[in-house]
Amino acid sequence: MADLITKYMGFELKNPIIAASSGLTDNVKSIVGLEKAGVAAIVLKSIFEEQILREIDSLNVNNMYNSFAEVENMVSFYTKEHNINEYIKLIEESKKSVSIPVFASINCFSSSEWTKFAKRAENAGADAVELNMFILPSDPKFTGEDIENIYFDVVKKVKEEIKIPVALKIGTYFSGMANFIQKLSYSGIDALVLFNRFYSPDIDLNTEEITNASIFSNPPENLNNIRWISILSPIVKCDIASSTGIHDGSDIIKNILVGASAVQIASTLYKNSPKQIGLMLEQIENWMKSKKYENLSELKGKLSSKNVKYPILYERSQFMKYFSNHH
Ligand SMILES: Cc1cc2nc3c(=O)[nH]c(=O)nc-3n(C[C@H](O)[C@H](O)[C@H](O)COP(=O)(O)O)c2cc1C
Repeated sequence: MADLITKYMGFELKNPIIAASSGLTDNVKSIVGLEKAGVAAIVLKSIFEEQILREIDSLNVNNMYNSFAEVENMVSFYTKEHNINEYIKLIEESKKSVSIPVFASINCFSSSEWTKFAKRAENAGADAVELNMFILPSDPKFTGEDIENIYFDVVKKVKEEIKIPVALKIGTYFSGMANFIQKLSYSGIDALVLFNRFYSPDIDLNTEEITNASIFSNPPENLNNIRWISILSPIVKCDIASSTGIHDGSDIIKNILVGASAVQIASTLYKNSPKQIGLMLEQIENWMKSKKYENLSELKGKLSSKNVKYPILYERSQFMKYFSNHH
């Protein structure tokens, strides 16, 4: 049987599949089910910076942008339902109930007082903290540098609080992306989760109203990860977990081949149930067997931009040849 062990943030994971932060990781019953189904680690559902701040200062939400009333309502509703103590209890109970690593997740957009919460997560037994950072660069007052500095500030403050590993889960809205992500990898973080998949608005042409796009991904969305992880994995100083659009075993193999240490999955668990994990593991093993690979480490990074003959193929973004040949 092929050896699927992989190292991620200093943990030896029995295979590369991590259950991504989602509604499936917000309760112990489901987390136990995911462990039974075969995942190697769990990222808990995120607690939000606003929730933490509200408990610190129940009136003052320290938002970089003006908060919208609707967001405020959503937050206060969510806060009522899930307070900090419940989150701490979730960490403690999960740790008692499963033997795989459990990572706390904090959704944040500033380096304010909430960072002290990371210590409570550590004390509650979290094996690592994943910072789910999202700042939509939609306000023309802020330059790219202003926004990038927030990421560095957050990492610095959180690293000052805790000793357990820190992962940073980010999106793709950065102009000098390779430069920025490389610098982030040197900021003391242990892993990058590339990339978060954010809620997107859509438009209903019948009602001419704003709706929400599907909350679940599709496999083609992962091709963006293949490009970026192949480019970034040789130049960053930390591990990479790939997230978005990973739905079966072949998607996992591709992400490992370009240099990811692990993958994080959510949509396929919703669409196909946690049974999908067993199938994915089987698909990886069968492929490795057919190619005579014994260890996952033999695959890792084999097709990163550093190890392929024509790395430029990962950077090609125009369909020049295709357009000229395709009528
Ligand atoms: C219902 C749902 C809830 C999610 N909640 C969170 C969250 O709280 N924190 C977070 O970092 N990501 C959250 N995500 C994003 C997932 O962790 C994951 O990064 C994203 O869905 C892309 O992976 P996928 O293509 O396998 O779904 C959520 C996704 C879904 C579908």
